[in-house]
Amino acid sequence: MSEIKKIKEEYLLKLDQVLDQNKLNEIKTELFGKNGIISNKFKQLGLIGEDKRKEFASELNFLKSELQELISKKNENIENQEINKKLKDDNIDVTLPGRTYFVGKIHPVSQVIDEVTSIFSEIGFSVEEGPDVESEYYNFSALNTPEDHPARDMHDTFYLEHSKDLLLRTHTSPVQIRTMLKGKPPFKIIAPGRTYRHDSDQTHSPMFHQLEGLHIDKNINMGHLKGCLYYFVKKFFEVDKVKIRFRPSHFPFTEPSAEVDIGYKIQDGKIKIGEGDKWLEILGCGMVHPNVLKNAKVNPNQYQGYAFGVGIDRLAMLKYGINDLRAFFESDIRWLEFYGFDPLDVPTNYRGLSR
Ligand code: PHE
Repeated sequence: MSEIKKIKEEYLLKLDQVLDQNKLNEIKTELFGKNGIISNKFKQLGLIGEDKRKEFASELNFLKSELQELISKKNENIENQEINKKLKDDNIDVTLPGRTYFVGKIHPVSQVIDEVTSIFSEIGFSVEEGPDVESEYYNFSALNTPEDHPARDMHDTFYLEHSKDLLLRTHTSPVQIRTMLKGKPPFKIIAPGRTYRHDSDQTHSPMFHQLEGLHIDKNINMGHLKGCLYYFVKKFFEVDKVKIRFRPSHFPFTEPSAEVDIGYKIQDGKIKIGEGDKWLEILGCGMVHPNVLKNAKVNPNQYQGYAFGVGIDRLAMLKYGINDLRAFFESDIRWLEFYGFDPLDVPTNYRGLSR
């Protein structure tokens, strides 16, 4: 067998068995590298007798191009195989829908607390907080509530088990005492927070929210209280005119005391604030009782002022037309999706996507 034929058969077999790029490159060098078999044969051409040289050269050239062609085909095959294997292994399902961003909603109560806080901040009130679990002293006694007052009754107040002294605060008014005890007058604060009473129907929930207001200085009178509440109600409901009714009332911690109702009517199934002849009670208020100031180490001969306690959930119901308070706290995501508010910094195309 001629030398050329031998090489050809050997390498056809080798190339047939090659499975990967590395092996193929090895064979390429073996044949065409600096010291490769084919390269060396070309170098030897000069040693061959003239008569055979031409034939040998042409056979060699033929073999060279045959092998080169085979190698490049093999190369292509191996590349394709590698791509196919990768596609199979990666196993990506490109038909799957993209990932959606679910953006939460702000609960109407949180929204209203933010709104109310910003309205009062604009007119100089700062924000205070107090604990939900309160002592009987701060919740009642320091607020001038007599021992036999019906509000202390087991039926209204959630007392903590095994304790006569600890309870879930029934209003935010204990924050008045805490604020005055830790600072020096004048005081001009609001205190939003959770409050608890043994009560449950369409407009009462055992856990609800209040916002306390307290303004104590040397010359604060009931005119300031009225002005402040008018300002607040107009700003909050975004109306120019409101109907407000001060009804004489009684709280142990204020004297005189009043309950405040705002006028509204229902028009085309929607609530209109500031018009009409229906009334809804939204807050209790009054001039802080001298005994309360004394208990809070403030001299009632020098200082006086007003306080109020607003029902935050009621405000939310009125402003946003929600008629059952209990739904506020049932954590129904569909309810929140409907009545909740978009966080401010979310791009519009991400808002309100349903689950
Ligand atoms: N704490 C009273 C209530 O819960 C409201 C109130 C606060 C009244 C401050 C007067 C002054 O009903």
